[in-house]
Amino acid sequence: MRVLGIETSCDETGVALYDSEQGLLGHELYSQVALHAQYGGVVPELASRDHVRKIIPLLTTLLAKTATRPQQIAGVAYTAGPGLIGALLVGASVGRSIAWTWGVPAIGVHHLEGHLLAPLLETPAPTFPFLALLVSGGHTQLVAVRGMGEYQLLGESVDDAAGEAFDKTAKLLGLGYPGGAALAHLAEQGHPNVFHFSRPMTNRPGLAFSFSGLKTHVLTAWKSQENPSEQTRADIARAFEDAVVDTLVIKCRRALKETRLQRLVVAGGVGANKQLRHQLQVLGQELNVKVFYPRIEFCTDNGAMIALAGCLRLQAGQQSPLNFNAHPRWLM
Ligand code: KG4
Ligand code: ZN
Repeated sequence: MRVLGIETSCDETGVALYDSEQGLLGHELYSQVALHAQYGGVVPELASRDHVRKIIPLLTTLLAKTATRPQQIAGVAYTAGPGLIGALLVGASVGRSIAWTWGVPAIGVHHLEGHLLAPLLETPAPTFPFLALLVSGGHTQLVAVRGMGEYQLLGESVDDAAGEAFDKTAKLLGLGYPGGAALAHLAEQGHPNVFHFSRPMTNRPGLAFSFSGLKTHVLTAWKSQENPSEQTRADIARAFEDAVVDTLVIKCRRALKETRLQRLVVAGGVGANKQLRHQLQVLGQELNVKVFYPRIEFCTDNGAMIALAGCLRLQAGQQSPLNFNAHPRWLM
């Protein structure tokens, strides 16, 4: 079964073709980062308009590069939420129109399910069940994934998501938007233990996270410097990254021990963080747990994860009615 996937929930337009026999056949991605950078954040109206501009050319390129004819496509998956409503509607409308025109089923996919299943695009792919650490710009969650559609939320952030904390802290340190990757890059130049920030919510039981206080600690440390050098900025970035990574690792250790799951899957944009990947690898060795990551380009938003999740759901006999719309807030 060959499925077309469409992702337009935020500021990335992604399209992909996934084949249940051959795996991922191809994917195309356009990032609007440069468009929104000048405003210091995603401007929803501009995002929707840019998706409209880019989606058809991307689809044309995808079909040409993979030498795919419409008749070969058995279904269309689109991100139905959560996300920006105008942006979601672009992918949902295009996806449902294509499905209707080609006479194939359409399926609305939950964006976070896409992230959770993205590691299945890799070889070797994790088998169910596994623990997933989902760390994106909008979410920080620990989820026990027992099978397709069987997701148990074990804990999540009560305020800022990890990626949001990276982005806000990067802005404070003058690194622009979205600054998560830039902050991580700067932290590589920083010395450890020059500054120290607490590991929020780790001294009490449970698997919840809270990252909003960290940026205040960073702001206080940064403002207290009279003439901060570039090295000081890097040292603060390092201390921030260490605090976030340590916190995530502590909670993963706890969740693995509690659930006794043998596999850990890391998904979402912050999963691109080198320090996090390294520390979770160390944890995996210590606990004899195998750790899986999607490749870096599939950590952040993309069409491939939506095509894959849609293919699995269509194969299970599910589909969405063509009047099924977009859901800006959608619990998984
Ligand atoms: O999953 P994603 O593309 O978007 C959402 O669905 O939210 O994740 C984007 C987030 C942003 O907050 C970005 O700053 C963060 O992932 N990010 C990183 C790194 N690369 C991207 N955070 C830390 N270190 C990185 N290397
Ligand atoms: Zn995402």
